Amino acid sequence: MQEELLLTPGPTPVARRTYQAMSQGIFGHRTSRFKEMSADIQARLQPIFGTDNPVAVLTSSGTSALEAAMVNLVDEGDTVVLIVSGVFGGKFADIAGRYNFNVHIYDVTWAEAADPQAFEEYLNGLDNVTAVFSQACETSTSVLHPLTELAAVVHNYNEETLFIVDAVSALGGADMHMQRDNIDCIVSGSQKAMMLPPGLAFVALNDRALSKVNSSRHGRYYLDLKMYFKSLEVDYTPQTPAVTLYQGLDDVLDMIHEETIEEVFLRHKKMQKMLRRGIEALELELFVKEASASPTVTAVTSTPEEIAHIKDELDKNYNISVAGGQKDLAGKIIRIGHMGFMFPKDMLAILSALEDILSKLRKKNYYGKALTAAQESLYDEA
Ligand SMILES: Cc1ncc(COP(=O)(O)O)c(C=O)c1O
Repeated sequence: MQEELLLTPGPTPVARRTYQAMSQGIFGHRTSRFKEMSADIQARLQPIFGTDNPVAVLTSSGTSALEAAMVNLVDEGDTVVLIVSGVFGGKFADIAGRYNFNVHIYDVTWAEAADPQAFEEYLNGLDNVTAVFSQACETSTSVLHPLTELAAVVHNYNEETLFIVDAVSALGGADMHMQRDNIDCIVSGSQKAMMLPPGLAFVALNDRALSKVNSSRHGRYYLDLKMYFKSLEVDYTPQTPAVTLYQGLDDVLDMIHEETIEEVFLRHKKMQKMLRRGIEALELELFVKEASASPTVTAVTSTPEEIAHIKDELDKNYNISVAGGQKDLAGKIIRIGHMGFMFPKDMLAILSALEDILSKLRKKNYYGKALTAAQESLYDEA
């Protein structure tokens, strides 16, 4: 009977008002109604990326935006560097492996963020690097990479080298801004901090990246960003868009605008702190150090037996969904999402469930401990 509390790092909960916005009924995408909605969306979407340029909105999942960045910004034979610190860095490597690029992998220990100084030394050892790819948040470990510092390293290496960031699990939750941070391309998706169901992907480019798209000779069709930007000049899309998700996007952009993006970032940071303090009070281990922790997802570790028991109990007895570990981390961590349409009260809900589960499992009294620590962290903030 209990409604599910969805605390996975994507997909994330969708607000009732957004579902309502998406049930207005379908209408044609070659109409002035769509044109107006698309123009309104652009006006409110661009500031979230920190750009004045149009943002391509694709009807496909986040991975399509990762691939679009590669096939539009890298030519055959070009040298690229991929910062790989988990499963999603591996996805970039998988995509790049399908094409004829000269690929260098910069491996970062899972659970750590890339160290800009060490990366600088690595990059300086390579010639003619066209582009560096990194995640903003590596969702599989819950690390947030230092994007501003990494962008500076890339552009000190060569002003023309592009810094391309996968922000599928960061955009709309972590403080990032293309112009301020000197990021050439940010890609993202709809089903995480952007508070929508899955199905839309975003690609934002600065002028340097845009000119590369226009000159690139790499083959592509559905993912040819030139078509998207050309259509956007008249507020249309090259193919049939997911009109219903556009209606939802129109609504979530209103929500972000009403809350203000600065407050949205603060709310995410607050949830992260509450959860981390609560997890410590429960004598569970945080997988990632404070300085590298993402404001959108937190990975927690313990013995494999406890991890399995906690995940199972949350699901069975509290109807709270969290994610497990992926690949090498399977069975070793649980990942709690705190992005998008999630709030401090949701952190209290999962912490109180964890108090109950661990009090019973360890026969030790944790009642009130995590909740107190979490709420005190909110007072400290104030
Ligand atoms: C950082 C990151 N990149 C890429 C993806 C892939 O996105 P999608 O599953 O929407 O294709 C995900 C999804 O979890 C992600 O977290």
